[in-house]
Amino acid sequence: MTGTSSNAEAGRVAVVSGAASGIGRGIAEVLAERGWQVAAVDKNADGLEQIAGGPITPVVADLTRSSDCRRVAEEAGRLGPLKGLVNCAGRELHGSVTEMPEEEWDLVIDTNLKTIYLLSHHCLPVMAQAGGGSVVNISSIQALATQTSVAAYAASKGAVISLSRAMALDHAPEGIRVTCVCPGTIDTPLVRANAEYYNPGDPEAQLREWGGMHAVGRIGTPHEVGRVVAFLLSDDASFITGSIFRRTADIWRTRLEAGRRRAS
Ligand SMILES: NC(=O)c1ccc[n+]([C@@H]2O[C@H](COP(=O)([O-])OP(=O)(O)OC[C@H]3O[C@@H](n4cnc5c(N)ncnc54)[C@H](O)[C@@H]3O)[C@@H](O)[C@H]2O)c1
Repeated sequence: MTGTSSNAEAGRVAVVSGAASGIGRGIAEVLAERGWQVAAVDKNADGLEQIAGGPITPVVADLTRSSDCRRVAEEAGRLGPLKGLVNCAGRELHGSVTEMPEEEWDLVIDTNLKTIYLLSHHCLPVMAQAGGGSVVNISSIQALATQTSVAAYAASKGAVISLSRAMALDHAPEGIRVTCVCPGTIDTPLVRANAEYYNPGDPEAQLREWGGMHAVGRIGTPHEVGRVVAFLLSDDASFITGSIFRRTADIWRTRLEAGRRRAS
């Protein structure tokens, strides 16, 4: 048992976005192991099928659409008392503000920021009706310490921190806590694609370099983020709201600038 608390979570429902892959999948699996009923939401139906079953109910949705987010809230509410929401869906596209086309800028901001607004807009009233709960928004260490070619991504993740603090104040009277987790480098398809971008000749070396920048000397796993999120959703975190959790990245060993080494 990897849980931090008793069986208090049993039967409670959590919505996890981006659950078909990477960190979202890790969070969904940890929550399911700890007794949560998980509405696992993603636009990638095939990825969701790989974790569906038992306490994990797949909900295919494009979270940039309000109607899809409304349906997610309705389906989650039918599973039981909605007590958790994890906003994890995201994407990273590269370029400076002069390089990036407007459509790509909009896609990054919409995926990383507007989905949190839309899903929260529809889920929080259901959560309030269930007597309150906990929301965890996934930002990134890139909100705080950045590198080249991530203008839109860094901007969106900085906004997620500000949004989380505002939500924490707005929804405290409804018994809803809101926190924000800023993962360091976590081994997922997204981060492996980034490693290819910055070091196409040797992406594994890039991952090792990023790992070496963390105090623990390695990159993290989706389940390690999942365990932090499980704690923040649990009653053990009942006095925590508005807080920002910086994952192992408070101390970076060397330089933050990985540089752009795209093959010409
Ligand atoms: N991997 C890292 O090192 C790292 C570090 C810091 C923050 N993050 C953040 O963690 C989150 C998860 O990243 P990951 O590395 O697991 O990426 P990932 O690409 O493995 O997973 C992202 C998931 O989000 C889903 N998604 C994207 N747009 C969607 C939409 N419109 N509707 C529904 N689902 C959608 C994708 O289908 C995918 O399954 C992201 O918000 C990312 O920015 C990742």
